[in-house]
Amino acid sequence: RSRLTDEGTGCRLFYCEEVDSTNDWAKREGRKGVSGGAIYLAERQTAGKGRRGRAWNTAAGTSVSMSLLLRPDLPADRISMLTLVMGMAAADGIRRACGLDTQIKWPNDVIIGGKKLCGILTEMSSGTDYVVIGIGTNVNVPAFPGELAGTATSLLLELGRSVSREVVTAEILNFFWKYYKIFMDTGDLSGLSRRYQEILANRGRSVRVLDPAGSFCGTALGINDRGELLVKRKDNGETEAVYAGEVSVRGI
Ligand code: BTN
Repeated sequence: RSRLTDEGTGCRLFYCEEVDSTNDWAKREGRKGVSGGAIYLAERQTAGKGRRGRAWNTAAGTSVSMSLLLRPDLPADRISMLTLVMGMAAADGIRRACGLDTQIKWPNDVIIGGKKLCGILTEMSSGTDYVVIGIGTNVNVPAFPGELAGTATSLLLELGRSVSREVVTAEILNFFWKYYKIFMDTGDLSGLSRRYQEILANRGRSVRVLDPAGSFCGTALGINDRGELLVKRKDNGETEAVYAGEVSVRGI
């Protein structure tokens, strides 16, 4: 059975029935000076947030919505790599919890068969004093409404049976602490990129990079140690490193 271990991190777990957003909850605690390694879990979010200002809806009892408060000693330009660390932890944690063939859609969506299972939102305080990594996982969601039906999935839908949310939570967090330590030892993804690449759905696939400075098409080769996606351009054959903050990638 999966058990949540603190692996020497001394992490503390806080739970509540309802909160606006676990990311906002963790940020409020961060501003109060709570030390790093705290995890905020809620049954329901009334104002869950997705990336690019979108809303993230979670029905009670069917998802795992949680946020980690960390105080890593890292320069601001390395913080976004933590999102990739969490993506890997979620993919491997879910794989261990229920045996499904999870993959990562760069930079950090966890997918199964092309459909999204987890979303991750990383936020930092202006002085990089603390970082909050929020993750939402669709565990026992029986169906998705409207357009989401074609793009989202849950563990229940994939397996045809419900899955323990405690086990999923424990496995994601246990992998996260393991990968976080490897990441912090070097401050880059050199110790993790091999594993990341193995489960990278985009690898070898055609992608379209939507960049304000000029969009282009190419083939995704993998990531570098900074977590940038390496794309071999179709037009000139050159390989470009694409930074997650600036572009969006289409085509898996
Ligand atoms: C995305 O894919 O757009 C990111 C979704 C992130 C959702 C999680 S749920 C827990 C945490 N709290 C929030 O308000 N958002 C994140």
